Amino acid sequence: MNKKAVSPLLPVLMLIVLLMTVPAFAVFVAVDAGAAVAGDSRPIQLDIEGDGRGVRISPTLFGAFFEDINYAADGGLYAELVQNRSFEFAEHAQFWSLVCKGKGDKGEFTTSDIDPLNANNPTYVRVKVLSTEGKGGVGISNTGFGGIPVVAGDEYHFSMYARSGDYSGSLTVSLEGGNGSVYAQGKIPAVTGSWQKSACVLRSRATDAGAKLVVVADAAGTIDMDMISLFPAKTWRNRTNGLRRDLVQLLADMKPKFLRFPGGCIVEGNRLSDAYDWKKTVGDVAERPMNINLWGIGQPYPYYQTHGLGFYEFFQLCEDIGAEPLPVVNAGMACQVRNGNYTTSNDPGIAYPLEKLAESKYVQDAIDLLEFANGPVDSKWGGLRAAMGHPEPFNLKYLAIGNENWGEEYKQRFEIFRSRILAESPYAKDIQFIVSSGTAPSGMVFADTWDWVRSSPGLVGMVDEHYYQPPEWFYRSVNRYDKYDRNGTKVFAGEYAAHEYRRKNNMMSALAEAAFMTGLVRNADVVRMASYAPLFNKAGFTQWLPDLIFFNNTSSYGTPNYYVQKMFSTNTGTHVLPSHLGRVGGQPQSAKEQAADAAEGARLEDLLYSVVSKDEKTGEIVVIVVNAADKDHRVVINVSGAGKAGSTGTAIVLTSGNLTGENSFAKPGNVVPVTRRIKTGPTFTHKFKKYSLTVLRIPTK
Ligand code: AHR
Repeated sequence: MNKKAVSPLLPVLMLIVLLMTVPAFAVFVAVDAGAAVAGDSRPIQLDIEGDGRGVRISPTLFGAFFEDINYAADGGLYAELVQNRSFEFAEHAQFWSLVCKGKGDKGEFTTSDIDPLNANNPTYVRVKVLSTEGKGGVGISNTGFGGIPVVAGDEYHFSMYARSGDYSGSLTVSLEGGNGSVYAQGKIPAVTGSWQKSACVLRSRATDAGAKLVVVADAAGTIDMDMISLFPAKTWRNRTNGLRRDLVQLLADMKPKFLRFPGGCIVEGNRLSDAYDWKKTVGDVAERPMNINLWGIGQPYPYYQTHGLGFYEFFQLCEDIGAEPLPVVNAGMACQVRNGNYTTSNDPGIAYPLEKLAESKYVQDAIDLLEFANGPVDSKWGGLRAAMGHPEPFNLKYLAIGNENWGEEYKQRFEIFRSRILAESPYAKDIQFIVSSGTAPSGMVFADTWDWVRSSPGLVGMVDEHYYQPPEWFYRSVNRYDKYDRNGTKVFAGEYAAHEYRRKNNMMSALAEAAFMTGLVRNADVVRMASYAPLFNKAGFTQWLPDLIFFNNTSSYGTPNYYVQKMFSTNTGTHVLPSHLGRVGGQPQSAKEQAADAAEGARLEDLLYSVVSKDEKTGEIVVIVVNAADKDHRVVINVSGAGKAGSTGTAIVLTSGNLTGENSFAKPGNVVPVTRRIKTGPTFTHKFKKYSLTVLRIPTK
């Protein structure tokens, strides 16, 4: 965990760090160049055993991590356009205003929780229309998440609950511009004495990123309203309660093989009372209780989770994009990082008492989650899944217990969870349990977790490792997993990102991640899953940098780091091919270099990193090369396995020619992969551009 603090000294600090880090990076390059002889002009060669067979690559290797951080869910992926739709924010009427449309129209509004729509979301709004003399109408308006974006010709689905004792007229719903111009209008039929849900479709006549939603009555009386909701008709797959199309598309284009959800620290909560509770995220959206978002603490804007994007929507999304669902459940522990004196604390609000844990809601919730995902329609939770529209099971195979947890208290809790789940859940047999190794990729906590895992064979399927580290760490760690026990417990690199000195998503961080990822592919018998974190960032609502995808209310773009993820995810074969990258005639200089050289897909001293795999489905050889140097490199590529390589292949290249290249709302396509056809064959030469990630797909005959 590495929280982003904003200080007035930031610009000065950034300058200092800039001055320190740039040379540091340069020094690293020179030092790490190891045996490379300056000006060494011997040709570089990549020898590939076309008929060889290295490790089988985990088919779930590259996935994605979703957490509701940086407004990723409400105001982001979740397409709801109304903010504070059920009046449950601490400031109950926040983002709502009184509207008296005509001259002489009068009214007022308050919020109340007497006789509510439901007990889970008890607050609603009461609009008192005092006079409609001006004949314009009296009601309320909402400006969404910094303006409601509407597009001319597009439809919007409006719905609300209303009731009244003394008003039986209809309500007029409109989308309006700042100056009151009406873009769309619809009617909600007669309001009755009991809560009733009504809906209408609004087609906008104009395009405006800053529209508002207005609901008015046209006669005196009192009307209660709740769950006032507006969605674009054009959601992902046109679903009701849907997700934002462009954001899902970016995610889907990455072809993640799994999706970790719901985080992250959000799983743990600041205290247990605000930890993520999946049962609050399923069923009718009007009945899903809201939660405070711990990433909003200390921010100048409110941050809540409506849970409109909940566990059902998560499973459905996974199914849509072909990703294995990978839920993380709370281990009966609030965030260990945020709760300093954790081990000695007797506060049940941050650590659920161990002796009662087996019978606690935390363990039961995990058991029930398996039933919700995999149980039959006649089971309680499988039945709810079916009632929500998905009778077929979601085929859940993974369960992470705890996010960034560690220590005796965690290990004991993990074992309680695991044994009770296995004993109680008929769906647990084939589930792979994932254990956290804490916040860092090394150190005492990390070592302690691995020691425990190694001494308890069969206890866990994978260890969740997290690394938010500088680019240098990623280069240094390319061979990290070469040393891992091939027959030991597998690894889930569950959160990682290269944090360059300004925590930017640029080519500096992207190339470091790419170099490291060659090591993940090469060790994909050990590392079964890996996900960059976090995924989304809404401009203006940043609690964490860097992130893969940036968006605002109307646009979105992928960062260079996003394209790195996408290129790896879509260009990883079925098994590694033995290969060697080196200078012709070059000899390893030391035992260390010999070891590095021996590794398939070795790193050349001139900051070239490579891994080669074979895609059995297409028959292609897939070469991935990262050139992290500030010069182009020509490499002779030899594919052995006589005459097997075809003559025309594909090169996909991501580069900006420098380390600072990045994308932005103004230039979303500044750094994107470019694909072209290239001549290939058993022997061919390819120029790998400076500061680039290249994928070569070579057909075989
Ligand atoms: O990815 C952002 C945060 O980093 C996650 O919530 C947490 O697990 C880690 O510290």
